[in-house]
Amino acid sequence: MVIRAAGPTDAETVAALNLACWRETYAGLVPEETMAEMTLEERLDHWRGAFAAERTHVLLASDAGAAAGFAAWRAHELALGGRLGRGAEISAIYLLRTAQRRGLGRALMRAMALEMREAGLKWASLTVLGGNLPARRFYEALGGRRFGRETHWRGAPQLAYGWRDLARLCAHQ
Ligand SMILES: CC(C)(COP(=O)(O)OP(=O)(O)OC[C@H]1O[C@@H](n2cnc3c(N)ncnc32)[C@H](O)[C@@H]1OP(=O)(O)O)[C@@H](O)C(=O)NCCC(=O)NCCS
Repeated sequence: MVIRAAGPTDAETVAALNLACWRETYAGLVPEETMAEMTLEERLDHWRGAFAAERTHVLLASDAGAAAGFAAWRAHELALGGRLGRGAEISAIYLLRTAQRRGLGRALMRAMALEMREAGLKWASLTVLGGNLPARRFYEALGGRRFGRETHWRGAPQLAYGWRDLARLCAHQ
């Protein structure tokens, strides 16, 4: 399994992975109309825009030469400093079902945490659908703690998890 930084020429690969993983993960968790709105065109627009804006860091994971998943983060827009220092928002981590439960998610989280630390950031947070129990167990296994209030994403309740200390996430092998 290989993890590498992705760039603008990977937009189509990341968009296709994003759509496939969303469909595998969210059927039954978000309203059907929302599922129908998830299209390759929309995802491609999103990732082309994200790569062009150069604020999002994307890691691409492959398994035996085939794209298997990706993760993305950026410096948190609200993290202007303060007691905890500047932090990062993990905006995506998705593996195809065939690539799950083999340590690749843990490796992607660690790779992102190392990049964040390199960028001088101190903490990380993300949001996850409340009904996405496998992902919540995964974040909890890696030391993530729930914080804040329930919000909503595409018609479904979502929760926030955070890591106050990136060193802890970096230590997960
Ligand atoms: C969530 C996800 C990124 C985790 O990656 P992964 O490679 O499958 O997980 P790992 O093999 O690295 O697991 C690390 C640890 O997390 C925990 N964990 C992972 N998946 C779990 C599950 N389904 N149930 C319970 N615990 C789980 C375990 O403690 C595991 O350690 P172990 O295998 O030694 O028991 C991946 O499964 C995925 O992409 N899921 C679908 C998309 C998704 O929900 N993304 C998150 C959106 S917010």
